Amino acid sequence: MSGNTSQLQVGDKTVDMAIKKGSVGPAVIDIAKLYAQTGMFTYDPGFTSTASCESHITYIDGDKGVLLYRGYPIEQLAEHGDFLETCYLLLEGELPTAAQKADFDYRITRHTMVHEQMARFFQGFRRDAHPMAVMVASIGAMSAFYHDSTDISDPHQRMIASMRMIAKVPTLAAMAYKYSIGQPFVYPLNSLDYTSNFLRMCFAVPAEEYKVNPVLSRALDRIFILHADHEQNASTSTVRLAGSSGANPFACIAAGTACLWGPAHGGANEAALKMLEEIGSVDNIPKYIAKAKDKNDPFRLMGFGHRVYKNYDPRAKIMQKTTHEVLNELGIKDDPLLDVAVELERIALSDEYFIEKKLYPNIDFYSGITLKAMGFPTSMFTVLFAVARTVGWIAQWKEMIEDPSQKIGRPRQLYTGSPQRDYLPIGRR
Ligand code: SDX
Repeated sequence: MSGNTSQLQVGDKTVDMAIKKGSVGPAVIDIAKLYAQTGMFTYDPGFTSTASCESHITYIDGDKGVLLYRGYPIEQLAEHGDFLETCYLLLEGELPTAAQKADFDYRITRHTMVHEQMARFFQGFRRDAHPMAVMVASIGAMSAFYHDSTDISDPHQRMIASMRMIAKVPTLAAMAYKYSIGQPFVYPLNSLDYTSNFLRMCFAVPAEEYKVNPVLSRALDRIFILHADHEQNASTSTVRLAGSSGANPFACIAAGTACLWGPAHGGANEAALKMLEEIGSVDNIPKYIAKAKDKNDPFRLMGFGHRVYKNYDPRAKIMQKTTHEVLNELGIKDDPLLDVAVELERIALSDEYFIEKKLYPNIDFYSGITLKAMGFPTSMFTVLFAVARTVGWIAQWKEMIEDPSQKIGRPRQLYTGSPQRDYLPIGRR
């Protein structure tokens, strides 16, 4: 490999491949012509060494535990900004001026109501349906209502669809929660900021006034910032692949929501809290550490480990700080789950297995404790992740659609099935 090209020897053939350098982070070897030149594919299940696209949105340095949104460190955005400012940054590429921020807030706020007919959808679900099932269905169903923003070739329609999803997904999330507990839906209130509005739609009841706790609202707004985007994670890659076929944006975000639900991905926050509850007390931790290390045991420490972070997930540190803030605000002095989590983290981070495999707490490790303390049931944790990640999915989808080199994603395979064979009549099988 030299300068801007690399060479690959395949049999008696030498193939030259261009090396593309990014602004920061690893360079890439452009293998697009490899099959045409060698008749061979690369093989990388799970895409551990594969860049699927070029992007300007989010950068992660897994070894250093760095996360940048459009170049700004997550710690600074979480400290100084609010979630809608982060949404603007991810969508537009720059932090908004005061006028731009006011206009963006105004536009999002006035898209928060959903078509009244959508409320009837919910009547078709069982009350005990998992809220993520309801979210996948209702986000997908948005393409059955908002026909005037499904033409992806029209930049204006792309922008309207983006606004609608950022604004309406929290409303659908709150409706999914209310429906699951048999309470009436609460309409958005335009006088409230984005996250306060969401909290009110979740926890207000018609029978009495609801006052948003500003400390909890600020904490949840920061949690949304932490979850907003994360380069080409599984659900974002799902959105990009769905979008590459020209599917409408609502359908693409529904596909991303479905992928996020998995316990190895966004479902880990729900699974991590269930794990802490199952461990129950600090005394049981060694047994579960042993299970996590046992190759024959499928048990994994949920909320630990990451494909990219081989250092502490920077979001987990901010999450841990937010957890203490919320528990203090709520007067929760000693949360047994937090005791288990802190001790589990301490033991795991000093254990050779976790050190050698570079397994650190990720964003899902502490989020469940915080969300539970705020009053959300475990089944809503991944829904909250989806509320926040909607803007990241949209920003990445928009970038893909607007990329002039964009084409439908269509991976190949290593085929190890049966070579061609002739049909046998049933009597001769
Ligand atoms: C998210 O991609 C993203 O950016 C995702 C995300 C985002 O913002 O979009 O950050 C959000 O999904 C965070 C991750 C949430 N998932 C979990 O917390 C579930 C538990 N963690 C794992 O399942 C696992 O760590 C993954 C799925 C997160 C990453 O898996 P990889 O990169 O495929 O790593 P691996 O499964 O190959 O594990 C490497 C080794 C294995 O041992 P060996 O086969 O090499 O002997 O580490 C072990 C694994 O067995 N290992 C664990 C472990 N995670 C990995 N062992 C015990 N407990 C764990 N949690």
